[in-house]
Amino acid sequence: MDRIFLSPPHMSGKEQQYIAEVFESNYIAPLGVFVNRFEEDICRYTGAKYALATNTATAALHLALRVLGIGAGDYVLASSFTFIGSVNAILYQHAHPVFVDSDKSWNLSPVLLKEAIEKAPQKPKALIVTHLYGQMAKMDEIMDICQREGIFVIEDAAESLGASLYGRQSGTFGDIGVYSFNGNKILSTSGGGMLVSDNEAWIEKAKFLSTQAKEDFLHYEHREFGYNYRMSNVLAAIGVAQMEVLPERVKRRREIFALYREHLGRIDEIGFMPEIGGSEGNRWLTTVTFEHTDPTRVIQALEAENIESRPLWKPMHLQPLFKDALRYEDGTSARLFQKGLCLPSGSAMTDESLIRICMIIKGIL
Ligand SMILES: Cc1ncc(COP(=O)(O)O)c(C=O)c1O
Repeated sequence: MDRIFLSPPHMSGKEQQYIAEVFESNYIAPLGVFVNRFEEDICRYTGAKYALATNTATAALHLALRVLGIGAGDYVLASSFTFIGSVNAILYQHAHPVFVDSDKSWNLSPVLLKEAIEKAPQKPKALIVTHLYGQMAKMDEIMDICQREGIFVIEDAAESLGASLYGRQSGTFGDIGVYSFNGNKILSTSGGGMLVSDNEAWIEKAKFLSTQAKEDFLHYEHREFGYNYRMSNVLAAIGVAQMEVLPERVKRRREIFALYREHLGRIDEIGFMPEIGGSEGNRWLTTVTFEHTDPTRVIQALEAENIESRPLWKPMHLQPLFKDALRYEDGTSARLFQKGLCLPSGSAMTDESLIRICMIIKGIL
């Protein structure tokens, strides 16, 4: 049997045609029309005013911190229950992360966010909030708190392209939003990221920094340091083709979640990641918790059948790298980490494969 992966790339079929156009034009790199088209498509879909295509979401998050003026010694609040790529840029800037735990939504707790702001030794300048596994965080409450306190909000929407709250797309609530197109995301350009904002000056500044901070001269003139963070035209061509099928991809991921719930939902000890009121997640990954069974046993049983599954993210405040970092936690994400599992959720997966996975899980329980 072919291996069933957690979330493999799912091409639309148009990618090679667009890549061929890139080759015909010889605008292989650095930029070209597909980079512009990809940025325009993202703006059209999400409703963001401006976008900048980057080579990774990690780079986009780094640019976000730079344009917001976050530097050495500053404090930056962040979801603790997330992937390291969400917070590495805080370290690149020699700033201090302040980790905030989740609540029942699995996403950032507004209550603990308030506590973190009150108790941090210095007023934090920004918050990086993750929409975990494609499910919306409580953005209305979070924006209220941060706007009152004058704290910038960066939405890590790496996993949540296509998710919405009250009809508004993830990534467009905060000051800046970031999407990822790496190999396992809902759309993939093999590797890639996107920065979005309604603030044109920030996007222009990020563009400048992402292309080695070259001043506007004929010769190469530099007044500050930059990065080589832009996306290539070849990868943007893949992105344009992928954007054409985003609504279908969201629909299929949500169907996969619904099917898992249909087949496993009656088992008492299994819980599913919730969806907050007014929101529609993209269900990037279907994630479950087991009340009594050790998820490692489920991972091993699936692996024996050549099926990939993974533990939930290990919270940042439990990582040795961050043993000295400030944290405001109540054990929620630590518990989820111990009990939880990500199930194969690729949009190309068949119903038959999914049913086979459910049978294996039922066998273990
Ligand atoms: C929540 C989150 N943030 C950031 C990233 C980093 O994205 P990239 O791999 O495009 O740098 C990822 C995925 O890898 C992610 O899942």
